[in-house]
Amino acid sequence: MTLPLHTERLIVREFTAADLDALAMVFADPAVLWWEPAPYTREQTRSWLEVTLERYRDDGCAEYAVVVAFTGDLIGDCGPTYREVEGRRLPELGWDLRSDAWGHGYATEAARGVLSHAAELGLTRVYSLIAPQNERSRGVARRLGMILERDVLWSGGPHELWALDLR
Ligand SMILES: CC(C)(COP(=O)(O)OP(=O)(O)OC[C@H]1O[C@@H](n2cnc3c(N)ncnc32)[C@H](O)[C@@H]1OP(=O)(O)O)[C@@H](O)C(=O)NCCC(=O)NCCS
Repeated sequence: MTLPLHTERLIVREFTAADLDALAMVFADPAVLWWEPAPYTREQTRSWLEVTLERYRDDGCAEYAVVVAFTGDLIGDCGPTYREVEGRRLPELGWDLRSDAWGHGYATEAARGVLSHAAELGLTRVYSLIAPQNERSRGVARRLGMILERDVLWSGGPHELWALDLR
């Protein structure tokens, strides 16, 4: 399950600097980064991309590009990123899709592939941080078989910490 992953309908691969235009469209959608004060500008997306490429090098993983295989359209990201949660550094599996790609099962399909990849990377447990009002994200976690571990304070607000054992 090394990258790129080929799932039924998607390709999941590492981002490259060439993805800036397509990713800027994802992050310019106000429904995607809904917790931010505003959608990302192209420059903010460029910084996000640079940090992500550094994380591949430093941590061995980070968010990956989610591409519809049939069209080649880059619709979002999904992958494990290390985050500091209440003093522990946890691999957090995240997912963001452009809103016109919601409702097709793409986030769950991408995440299932990424979970197999994460297990191959040697991760034994992954986590997801989900804001209490994010019902769609909670739905993805449930479909993956994740368990609500506890409520935590993260990034200045309450979040649910969902977890999945990969062993
Ligand atoms: C969170 C997010 C990725 C979820 O997207 P989503 O499309 O709802 O999730 P899935 O890809 O799992 O799709 C599930 C839906 O597709 C439907 N579906 C349609 N065709 C399907 C298929 N072939 N297979 C599976 N599900 C399918 C399911 O019935 C379900 O619909 P429902 O929401 O009406 O129950 C999306 O809402 C998003 O990007 N939000 C903004 C960013 C964000 O909040 N990220 C998470 C931060 S914690």
